[in-house]
Amino acid sequence: MPMTLPRILRPLLASAAAVLAFSAGAQDFPNRPLTMVMPYAPGGPGDVITRVFAGAFQRILGQQVVVENPAGASGTVGSGRVARAKPDGYTLLMIHVSHATNVAMFKNLPYDPVADFEPIGSATSGPMLIAARTGFPAKDLPEFISYLRANAPKISLAHAGVGSASHLCGLMMQSVLGVKLNEIPYKGTGPALNDLMGGQVDLLCDQTSGTVPSIKGGKIKAYAAAGRSRLPQLPELPAISEAGVQGFDINISFGLYAPKGTPKPVIDTLTATLQKAVTDPEVRQRLEGMGVSAVSTERARPEALRAHLRQEIEVLGGLLLRAGVKPD
Ligand code: MLT
Repeated sequence: MPMTLPRILRPLLASAAAVLAFSAGAQDFPNRPLTMVMPYAPGGPGDVITRVFAGAFQRILGQQVVVENPAGASGTVGSGRVARAKPDGYTLLMIHVSHATNVAMFKNLPYDPVADFEPIGSATSGPMLIAARTGFPAKDLPEFISYLRANAPKISLAHAGVGSASHLCGLMMQSVLGVKLNEIPYKGTGPALNDLMGGQVDLLCDQTSGTVPSIKGGKIKAYAAAGRSRLPQLPELPAISEAGVQGFDINISFGLYAPKGTPKPVIDTLTATLQKAVTDPEVRQRLEGMGVSAVSTERARPEALRAHLRQEIEVLGGLLLRAGVKPD
């Protein structure tokens, strides 16, 4: 005689079965390809960094990792896509400072950068530099600064949208030099770099991972590292502080996130994978070649990325608003 469950218990059993199925999925995670979303255009500094980690995750997890670049609106298009993705660990977001600045830059952000994501851990940190088209008329850093101060309204400055790393760097440069340039937004500094190489735009303040090869190849030129110290990859390039410019020191860190609600066993697997990636000699060597550092295993953890994001939200949102940047 088959036992029929009291009606009241059926939903309870159904949800228990769903949890068990989901946790079973979590237990053999990953059993199919993953997607790493980089919310800026292909060819930019974020894209090259993401592809290094996608390759490492693929080797470590034994599953294909596809990088996708749903770019636009300062990284909010791609970030929104991950926020709405199924929380199963197969759709991840690799993003940097704009995850924090977008809180201040968009009144109607279609997601909450903190509440709608599970941090997995930080991945990299890296410096920025001031680059120009090869025909830009200044022979060195002192002349560059003088030329900007004398010709600012005629000079165009590319960036990847309000709150992006290149935008922040450009704002800081304009602020410390006391100039206002003609800002041109792009969907990423990959496309911006193409226009810099083509001479369609004058300047770009960008991460080394997007610019060092083009500088070494003579396709663009650089005037300064955007900080207090020179870059090992470009030892001849002065730091902007050498021109007596203080208060301009920017470093960009990328971190990995999953959608809110991703089961903890899956987050643990992804965090363990990230920890292996940041200590992987091949990953470290490839990043160092672009002037970028893999973070320590202490930073490649959820609580470290959560704290880093909170600090960037607190510090950078106010900086942008004080700089007069109007939220969208
Ligand atoms: C990119 O990958 O295009 C950059 O990270 C965008 C930016 O400047 O933040």
